[in-house]
Amino acid sequence: MTRAASSRSARSSASSSSSSSSSSSSSSSHGAADSGGYLAVSPCASLRGVVPIAGAKNAVLALLAGALACGDEVVLRDVPIGLADVRAMIDVLRSVGARVDVGGEDANTANTPSSGVVVVHARAEDLRASPSADAVAKLRASFFAAGPILARAGRVSMPLPGGCAIGARPVDLHLDGFRALGAVVEVTSRGVVEARAIARDGKLRGAGTHVMRFPSVGATHAIVMAASLAVGDTTIVNAAAEPEIEDLAAMLNASGAKIRGAGTSVITIEGVGVAGSGEKGDGGGGGTGRGGLGGCAHDAIPDRIEAGTMLVVAACVGSTLTLSPVIPEHMTATTALLIDAGCSIDVGDEVGGESKSKSKSNSNSNSTSRRRSMTITPPPRGGLRAVDFTTAPYPGVPTDMQPQLCVLNACAEGVAIVRETVFESRWSHVPELRRMGVECDFVDADGDDAVANANANANANAGRSLRIVGVGARGLRRADVRGSDLRASAALIVAGLAVMAPMGDGDGDGDGEAQGPTRVAGLAHLDRGYEGLDAKLRGVGADVERRPVPPRK
Ligand code: UD1
Repeated sequence: MTRAASSRSARSSASSSSSSSSSSSSSSSHGAADSGGYLAVSPCASLRGVVPIAGAKNAVLALLAGALACGDEVVLRDVPIGLADVRAMIDVLRSVGARVDVGGEDANTANTPSSGVVVVHARAEDLRASPSADAVAKLRASFFAAGPILARAGRVSMPLPGGCAIGARPVDLHLDGFRALGAVVEVTSRGVVEARAIARDGKLRGAGTHVMRFPSVGATHAIVMAASLAVGDTTIVNAAAEPEIEDLAAMLNASGAKIRGAGTSVITIEGVGVAGSGEKGDGGGGGTGRGGLGGCAHDAIPDRIEAGTMLVVAACVGSTLTLSPVIPEHMTATTALLIDAGCSIDVGDEVGGESKSKSKSNSNSNSTSRRRSMTITPPPRGGLRAVDFTTAPYPGVPTDMQPQLCVLNACAEGVAIVRETVFESRWSHVPELRRMGVECDFVDADGDDAVANANANANANAGRSLRIVGVGARGLRRADVRGSDLRASAALIVAGLAVMAPMGDGDGDGDGEAQGPTRVAGLAHLDRGYEGLDAKLRGVGADVERRPVPPRK
């Protein structure tokens, strides 16, 4: 079965959780969008300099959940603590009794870049099995916490999660994993997942070989965390191979877990049991020596999606930019497309240096040695070539880069076909790009049956491919647009920077003042996952300004 087909089969087998999860996320996210103001993005003639890349939001959300699996203090560094999603996850941890200290918490907002330190201590005696429904409703990743809570408390009562509205987002694969680890699981009519370990001792048991129907990132995180605390061994086959899973495993291993193969499609976990169980847990790494996991200090990997977004900014504006730090091999699919589009990418020397994942007594070499700077040199404005692509689980083109790469194609010369195989309705940026002068139509799966669908909404186009006719040297046009999910908001900001300033706007400097800025609303989505994007863009010469009142459309 192809990845696309297996993705569809995973979705079609979605339990009733799918609709409740996606509808709740949709309403919460749209309400939030209006409170975020808008970004006034002026056409950008050129950019220059070095963009600092934050710790990866998606890694940090899993690491925070992973800290719930640990009985001792976990120190997480390079945490983008201004992000709304990170703050929401911290609320989830606090709501189950974990002590969470955030360095500089008051000083940071999503609009100011930070590199925070978060210390989590989830003592067994404080752990509660029911996180706050309000906290859980804010983000889908809150469900990552279910695995460690179930393993340590023997039960968990977890509302179905919220998050960006980008398609059906069921949790059936997470629940399959919990069942395989010896839990009974039901979803109540009120949308709450109730799970408890079947065994009388309240402990999970190793699942043996567990084959996932689709390599879900979240379900892989969940099973890795729960299986680490089970009694016995688990091998996950068809696991997600995303770098964020490798990062979580590095952190858990530094705390005493025994996980091998993370970052590949087969992950083997030797369960260490829970603290006080007397089962295994001989205290490798930061383990307690009494079963269970201890603690560690760990630096999150750099955010490959933030870095990829900045590469597309540089490409669309036609300017050389350097990013640092990045782990180049995490970005291969994105950089390969940019090279096909006519850009050159140069990887610099190592940055950082010391080992980035340390238990208090042991150090564990992690990804630091792979941290580099990366410089992109694009062709001059109008010189990009259109590139077809299909999103897929890692190491394929990330779905989280799809809207930004659509903007790359919108700025290019030629026609591109974009296929989305991970989140079927992730097309909310399309009507907004049309407002900016881009001709794009949905085409049927065979790629050649164009559909006249100027007014069609994103859901109606689930499962279709997008055909984009690039504007090339003509450039994009300014418009008032709204991002309806995290990556769509970022993509529209990139598009705003790439608007071509009109010739002769009155003052002769070609800066497009007469035309005015593109106004991008939906910043509450942006602030979930990009820390200080506007400040970072200003830092390399862009004229972007956050304003409080959303424009009327
Ligand atoms: C994570 C990322 C998100 C990214 C996505 C895919 C975090 C916090 N978020 O989301 O940014 O876009 O990976 O790379 O890390 N599915 C099921 N049943 C399940 C779980 C998933 O059918 O139980 C389906 C989903 O509907 C979707 C596909 O699997 O079509 C991928 O989802 P998944 O990999 O689980 O994404 P998330 O972990 O939610």
